[in-house]
Amino acid sequence: MFLINLTKSLPVIAWAALAATLSAQSAGPAVLQIKADQVAAHVSPRLYGLMSEEINFSYEGGLYAELVRNRTFMEDAKEPVHWTLIQEEGGAGSMALDPSRRFNAAVATSLKLTIAKASGKQRVGIANQGFWGIPVWPRTSYRASFYAEAAPGFKGPLTVSIVSDDGATVHATAQVARVTEIWQRYEVILTTRDSPVSTANRLVITSAKPGTVWLSTVSLFPPTFNGRPNGNRNDIMQLLAAMKPAFLRFPGGNYLEGNTIATRFDWKKTIGDISRRPGHMNDAWHYWSSDGMGLLEFLEWCEDLHMEPVLAVYAGYSLHGERAEPGPELAPFVQDALDEIEYVAGQATTTWGSKRARDGHPDPFPLTYVEIGNEDNFDRAAGGTYDARFTQIYDALKGRYPRLQYIATAPVTTRVPDVIDEHYYRNSEDLMASTAHMYDTRPRTGPKVLVGEWATRVGSPTPNMSAALGDAAWMTGMERNSDLVIMSAYAPLLVNVNPGGMQWHTDLIGYDTLTSYGSPAYYAQKMFSVYHGDVVLPIAAQDVPTLFYNATLDTRTNTIYLKLVNRASTLQPVRIEISGVASVDPKARLIVLNASSPDDTNSITEPTKVVPTTTTIDIPSRSFTHTCPPYSITVLQMRAR
Ligand code: AHR
Repeated sequence: MFLINLTKSLPVIAWAALAATLSAQSAGPAVLQIKADQVAAHVSPRLYGLMSEEINFSYEGGLYAELVRNRTFMEDAKEPVHWTLIQEEGGAGSMALDPSRRFNAAVATSLKLTIAKASGKQRVGIANQGFWGIPVWPRTSYRASFYAEAAPGFKGPLTVSIVSDDGATVHATAQVARVTEIWQRYEVILTTRDSPVSTANRLVITSAKPGTVWLSTVSLFPPTFNGRPNGNRNDIMQLLAAMKPAFLRFPGGNYLEGNTIATRFDWKKTIGDISRRPGHMNDAWHYWSSDGMGLLEFLEWCEDLHMEPVLAVYAGYSLHGERAEPGPELAPFVQDALDEIEYVAGQATTTWGSKRARDGHPDPFPLTYVEIGNEDNFDRAAGGTYDARFTQIYDALKGRYPRLQYIATAPVTTRVPDVIDEHYYRNSEDLMASTAHMYDTRPRTGPKVLVGEWATRVGSPTPNMSAALGDAAWMTGMERNSDLVIMSAYAPLLVNVNPGGMQWHTDLIGYDTLTSYGSPAYYAQKMFSVYHGDVVLPIAAQDVPTLFYNATLDTRTNTIYLKLVNRASTLQPVRIEISGVASVDPKARLIVLNASSPDDTNSITEPTKVVPTTTTIDIPSRSFTHTCPPYSITVLQMRAR
């Protein structure tokens, strides 16, 4: 008890000083002999990346910054869900979907607003509740836009405002002076003044004149990361950028496959102007996707964070067992995959490359890895068809793009994939840690490994310190074996912590309508991703079951990164003996993530309860003892001389 209370309040640096006096409560010392002049393996430059899909409102109401929910009125065939009619006292009107006045070839309906009675103080219109409200910040400019077509006799004006739910406060407002009888796009900038931060707000479009008007693609964006139009939320992008991820595996996950072929991620319907994207029911995770986060937006996200795309193409199998049989039935999906690669990486002179150029990105994106399907081991009916589907898709893709690397999602026998995608979800830190050595003995003769999804699933909505410890133990194993495990990504990455936002518990980063936070596991990931060298150093050690470790060397800077994971509730002294270098700089950097209890966690209300600390420590020589706090993840950064 004494120890636990102390750990809560002590800065990490104080542990070293206390180590001696608390040694009675310590585990026995571990000895790590690090051979700094030898190479056990090369660290893949792509080892730490991101995996992402539309789950837990990752994009809708999440990373994708659109604030209007159901902007094209396509979410429900009968009702304009998430929209309400506004009738100020004495005003009268109605609103309804009008499929007879479809907006365009892709968007098969529009919203008909009929204003029967209105005047200056009797305004009538529509309001959107957003995703868990519309966030208002002071002195902030939002871009509002919509398409409108007026019936004869109606000209507007239309007033566009961000208004508190009770109607009492207009945070920002602007006017569209006149609407015409042909569909046109209108845009206004809404700038708040000194409004306090709040979420109980709506986007409201009203008129004081009677008449009829049809609306579509009503959109509202706050400032976005890098100022991209149709872009991403700043705060979440900053958390992701800080991880320095090397790649992004997208678009799924189950989201790639859908429950049926019709609800797969049909990439051709996710590109071009947002007003021409029909959206689709994300039935794998039970909510509507506007497809605002479409193929090009995924790629621009990669560009913004300097990540390589790892593109998963649909492989003809959907979650409820519907599948395109190998042969002619699969052929259209093979063609879709070929076209998709051309859209991503083809020159602007190619058919799909020129479409990408017209969509605003003339330069091809760098592409090395293409994954064929997702978790196709679930295709088991009648013996399964993945082998044959993989072969057909692989042959076509490899024939056209021989230099790309192809990733299989399940074992195949007729072709040799370059990489195999393995997924590991464990329900306790013990299980994750117990597999930390599984790659040590894997033969190096087969394909390389992408651990495309993994997590210690302890904690909800986001992982706690116990999970972070399991994760860190597991990451020492992947890093040590990074000649084989060339890429890895935690999943799921994101969760909206508002009520009803989560479909899958234990997600790396949480957010609500206003703010976001990293879990302890997020900080563990960040430590592993940011601090590593390019070669793995051999370590000789005796077995201490609660201690996990790995050392890498950056050969350009001669920097050694030693990672230590102490899962025990007690101090863990570690005798570190470095050979193969003349000396080590007496000043070392120490980065530590620790907690007083494995249950400690971060949350939207306590976002930084468990975060790493960085200090400088003195090390006397190449051989010294460092004491790890209980429940801790440590990076020791040392300069070899
Ligand atoms: O990460 C959640 C889900 O787990 C993914 O969509 C799927 O690939 C896996 O089964």
